[in-house]
Amino acid sequence: MKLVYRLLIFSLALITVLMMVVVAIVDTRLQERIIGERAAELGREARLVAGQWTAQGNPEELARTASIALGGRVTLIDTDGRVVGDAAANGGTGQTIGTRYTRPEVASALAGEESTVAPTPHLAGPELYQAVQTPLGIVRVGVHTRTLEAIFDAARRDVVTAGFFALAWAFTLALLFARYVSRPVIQLRDVARALARREYGNHPKIDAPGEVGDLAKSLEHLSVRLETLESVRRDFIANVSHELCSPLTIAGGFAVTLANHDPPPEARKQFARAIVSNTTRMQRVIDDMLDLSRIESGGWIPVPEPIDLAAIIEEVFESLGPAATAKGIALVSDLHAGGSVLVADRTAVRQTIANLTENALRHTENGSITVFTRPGTDGAWLGVRDTGEGIASNHLPRIFERLYRADRGRARRSGGSGLGLAIVKHMAEAHGGRVDAESVVGGGTTIRAFFPHVPSARETSGLAGRVRLNLDSVATQL
Ligand SMILES: Nc1ncnc2c1ncn2[C@@H]1O[C@H](COP(=O)(O)OP(=O)(O)O)[C@@H](O)[C@H]1O
Ligand SMILES: [Mg+2]
Repeated sequence: MKLVYRLLIFSLALITVLMMVVVAIVDTRLQERIIGERAAELGREARLVAGQWTAQGNPEELARTASIALGGRVTLIDTDGRVVGDAAANGGTGQTIGTRYTRPEVASALAGEESTVAPTPHLAGPELYQAVQTPLGIVRVGVHTRTLEAIFDAARRDVVTAGFFALAWAFTLALLFARYVSRPVIQLRDVARALARREYGNHPKIDAPGEVGDLAKSLEHLSVRLETLESVRRDFIANVSHELCSPLTIAGGFAVTLANHDPPPEARKQFARAIVSNTTRMQRVIDDMLDLSRIESGGWIPVPEPIDLAAIIEEVFESLGPAATAKGIALVSDLHAGGSVLVADRTAVRQTIANLTENALRHTENGSITVFTRPGTDGAWLGVRDTGEGIASNHLPRIFERLYRADRGRARRSGGSGLGLAIVKHMAEAHGGRVDAESVVGGGTTIRAFFPHVPSARETSGLAGRVRLNLDSVATQL
């Protein structure tokens, strides 16, 4: 059932029950009041009659005149309990003169209770009586309850009419309330459905107070995030295809030539080498991609341990040394003296240094490349600084994205997978750290990763046994 109907039905049920309770309470209270008032009045009337009852007077006559004047029934009973006068306004008499009379109100009046003897306040029988004591006996005045019933009915009608109007108003208000509450919920549902259909933009702005408003805001954020993810996914697939397409085409072309023609031995060797280098490149892209997805999916958990940085830097410099020497670039190590030992995953540290140094070497023509550490708040920075070409400010914020390259053609020719910085970033983040980059075009680049202080794995049991990704294969290819 629609939300608006459910809200409406619930509100109406609530209001109806409330109205019924109110009508019932008002009705009984009103009856009590009217009976109480009438009883008090009867008491006053009885006292008035009692004042006129004298030993010389005729009680029968008094009863008759009084009953006509008061419009009720008047009964006079002597001290022995015998009826001495009884008359009703309509002319009839109820009691035979001379009989003993023992109704409760008379009995209590006879028992000498000075005050008015009030009958039970509700209508016990068809008549309402009030009796008072005089020296000559008891004066009892009564009215038929039919006269009261008419008053009750009128009052009840008024109450019910008022209740009906209140219900009509409440219905209108409940309808407005149900609409007001259900409208943003319906809009939220429509937005969620649109998201499921991958329609991200152009959602109506949902205005709602409280939790529903919060939900609307969350949904809006979700929509923006989904849209971003969707475009990243699309770009990524396009980039990967492109990344693998060119080496595959080249390798395939050479393989076809080798299969269909019979090139001279020298050319054959050259073709084979081209095939090897292009398949290696594809292999590298795929390896890096697998590493990245394992880090991202949480399949790789860093195992922090105190790192001997000097040894790792030495290792990396050794493998990149020949290329640096060929370009006339100095490889420098600048470790923060007296700084705390870096506690991080060994593989991640080696990979970070290797990736950053390799990038620096690729984009630097002369000068130096420096691997450095610096203490930071609750952690340490590990970075690489170069004196190379730099990165334009429009590219700088995007270099950590997968497969993003500032200079597409050249970077690809020079052999990178386009995933180096993305891997550095994800590894730093797996440690709870982050990365940042600064660059001046023509003035050099500094890229660094922050590793927060963590207890080493040897101190925390259990961590060491967790899954560990073997990135060494990637590192050795550098
Ligand atoms: N030290 C650097 N100097 C200039 N540009 C750099 C440097 N490091 C990275 N970049 C830019 O960032 C891009 C991404 O780097 P990376 O993710 O390592 O991929 P790849 O090295 O395979 O191109 C590079 O293509 C390059 O344009
Ligand atoms: Mg790289």
